[in-house]
Amino acid sequence: MPGFDAIAPVYDALSWPLGPGAIAGVQRDLLGALPACARAVVVGGGTGRIAVDLIEGGAASRIVYLEPSRGMIARARRRAAARGVSHRIDFRRAGVEGIEAGERFDLVVTPFVLDLFAPVTLEVVMDRLDAGLVPGGAWLFADFVLDRAGPLGRATVPALYAFFRAVCRIEARRLPDFDAVFARRGFRVVAESRRAGGLLAARLLARL
Ligand SMILES: C[S@@+](CC[C@H](N)C(=O)[O-])C[C@H]1O[C@@H](n2cnc3c(N)ncnc32)[C@H](O)[C@@H]1O
Repeated sequence: MPGFDAIAPVYDALSWPLGPGAIAGVQRDLLGALPACARAVVVGGGTGRIAVDLIEGGAASRIVYLEPSRGMIARARRRAAARGVSHRIDFRRAGVEGIEAGERFDLVVTPFVLDLFAPVTLEVVMDRLDAGLVPGGAWLFADFVLDRAGPLGRATVPALYAFFRAVCRIEARRLPDFDAVFARRGFRVVAESRRAGGLLAARLLARL
């Protein structure tokens, strides 16, 4: 999706209409609930805030950072270098195909990325990540959810899809049913945080 290169310079500012810092904040909300882990994979991490937060907060000691956008990953590399954590992050300009055969992770992190994929691709992405998760591993998910959304929230999400489809050429047309996607795989929600009137959710998931 090369379209994310076009918005990489302004991406962090673009999310502010949802509430100052809400997109970044909801991703951080559950960091304290994460078990300290050796190895995490971050998918579609954008400009790198979440990777730096995971390392600095002690939630992950090493990260494989999968991000196909050249502009996004360049910013993530600069951010990590400025914070002195680059040596702990393996930046790969790729999607989940960048996971190497036999690689395993204690933590999977999907911050506002699973919403990009149409249903068939989403299952492929979920399969690949699930296969890379160690037994007993955790999944930190953050995205839009509509269960508590009022009329404004319900109008916002289609507008965002129209924008990202036009500008970034994303594949999905609507928000997946994330509850069903995770429940089918046996994941349960261990902890949850909401922001922006409930429209933004972070969830820590595990197989119980
Ligand atoms: C909506 S942005 C979210 C960025 C960041 N996680 C955040 O919350 O601010 C989606 C990110 O997913 C990346 N992306 C696009 N296609 C992807 C793919 N197939 N696999 C992984 N990441 C992808 C984009 O380049 C972009 O950085």
